[in-house]
Parts: sequence; structure tokens; C-alpha cells
Amino acid sequence: MKELMISPGKRLEACAGFVRRGSVAADIGTDHAYLPVWLIQQGICPKVYASDINEEPIRLARKNIEFYGISDKVEAFTSDGLQAVPKEMVTDVIIAGMGGDNIVTILNEAPWLKNETYRLILQPMSHTERLREYLFSNGFDIIAEKAVCEAGRLYTVICAAFTGSGVIYDDFDLYAGKHDHSDPVAAALLGKQAGILRSMAAGYQAKGAPEQAMKYAKLAERIQSIIQNQKPCEEENGWQE
Ligand SMILES: C[S@@+](CC[C@H](N)C(=O)[O-])C[C@H]1O[C@@H](n2cnc3c(N)ncnc32)[C@H](O)[C@@H]1O
Repeated sequence: MKELMISPGKRLEACAGFVRRGSVAADIGTDHAYLPVWLIQQGICPKVYASDINEEPIRLARKNIEFYGISDKVEAFTSDGLQAVPKEMVTDVIIAGMGGDNIVTILNEAPWLKNETYRLILQPMSHTERLREYLFSNGFDIIAEKAVCEAGRLYTVICAAFTGSGVIYDDFDLYAGKHDHSDPVAAALLGKQAGILRSMAAGYQAKGAPEQAMKYAKLAERIQSIIQNQKPCEEENGWQE
């Protein structure tokens, strides 16, 4: 019988793209378990732990895991962050589709991640700059970032690991991240980021805070300058906030 293949979408496929082949992964906040199913079906992981803080997503995850016939390869269970995840069994940890601050909280509550064995694949929905700051100031470094455009929305996926050696960073690193500037999707994401920073600058100017306004205006200009020769992402017209 032909195996039924899942189609998780570009955002989750980009997350999977950073998972090391042959690794055992943990998908935190798995919801429907689309990513674990994809990781098994693509032969990227022999085993995946799929956890979620809520019962209902885990019920749905188990249903999908059973539907795709991979109950022996994906273990689904409730867990607040990484609390119930067997740290000695996993090497690659994915946290996708959550706010940046929630991701920071989850990472902060799992100090065992401060070990070079682990790879972190993080896909924040907000406050990405605060997540990058947490990583840089806690001994992690960003290996790479991948920008994705799905259904008219732009996302970034961060691949990070603990190095123990402090990273020197500035506001540009926090807001621009570590994208490949020749990638048109990354250019579109950075162009959007520059626009947000320009709006922040205008807000500070209106509030009578010229120094802050200048800081964000300069950041916007610096980000814009690295992408000025890039074509925008094809799906740019469908952007949503
Ligand atoms: C929007 S869904 C994202 C699902 C999937 N990871 C994705 O990117 O498509 C967020 C999921 O994270 C779960 N979640 C939120 N906080 C969590 C935490 N502290 N620990 C584990 N799961 C959490 C929610 O229950 C929800 O199922």
C-alpha cells in the first residue's frame, strides 16, 4: 500500500531543514504533530518526541501519528516546555509557532540545553529580537537563519547551539538576525523589519524622545542598506500583519 505523505507547509519544512539527519528530535508545542510526522516520513529522524502543554493538542497529535502509521516512532505526551522531555534521549529541539518570550521562558527553564550536544531550532511568532538577545547573552550562538514566506506571511527560523563563548552583538544583530542577504525571502523579511523600525522611530519622535527616534531610524537605515539591491519576495503582495 502506498504510504500517505503529510504536507506540513513551508514554515515547518524550513524548521525540519535544520534538524540533523539521524538525530532524535523533540518538538515542543507540537499541536497537531505535523512536524514529527514529516521528520519521520522524510527519514530525517528515526524517533521524535512530540510534547505540548495542553491535553487537546496531544489528543490530536496521537490521532495524526496513528493515522500516518508511525506510533512506534513518535511519542506524544503533555509537558510544560521541556520539563518531561528525556534530555538524555534527544539532540535536536524544535520550538515553533510560539511567541519569542514564551520560547525564552521554555529555554531558560531547561539549563541542560547549555551543552554543545544540542541543536535548537526556533521559530518565533513575535519579539524575535528578544529571543536573539537571550541566546547571545546565555552562551548560545546563531548558526543560521532561514526566512520563509507562507500564505502571505513572513517568518524566520533560527538554528542555534550552545558554544559557551560569549557572542559580541549589537542592536543590528538583534533586529537583522543572521540571514543570507542574497535570499529574496530574507530581503523581504528584512525590508519589513526596517519598516517596523521606521514606525518605531516615528513613534518616539512624536513622543518627544529624539534620541530613541534616532537610534531606531539609524537601525532601519542600516538594515535597508544591506538589502537595497535585492528583489522582493514573490509572495510580498500577500503580506499580513
Ligand atoms: C500555535 S501552536 C504551534 C504548533 C506547531 N509547533 C507549529 O508551529 O505549527 C502553539 C502550541 O504551543 C503549545 N504551547 C504553548 N506554550 C507551551 C509550553 N510552555 N510548553 C509546551 N507547549 C506549549 C500550545 O498548546 C500550542 O499547541
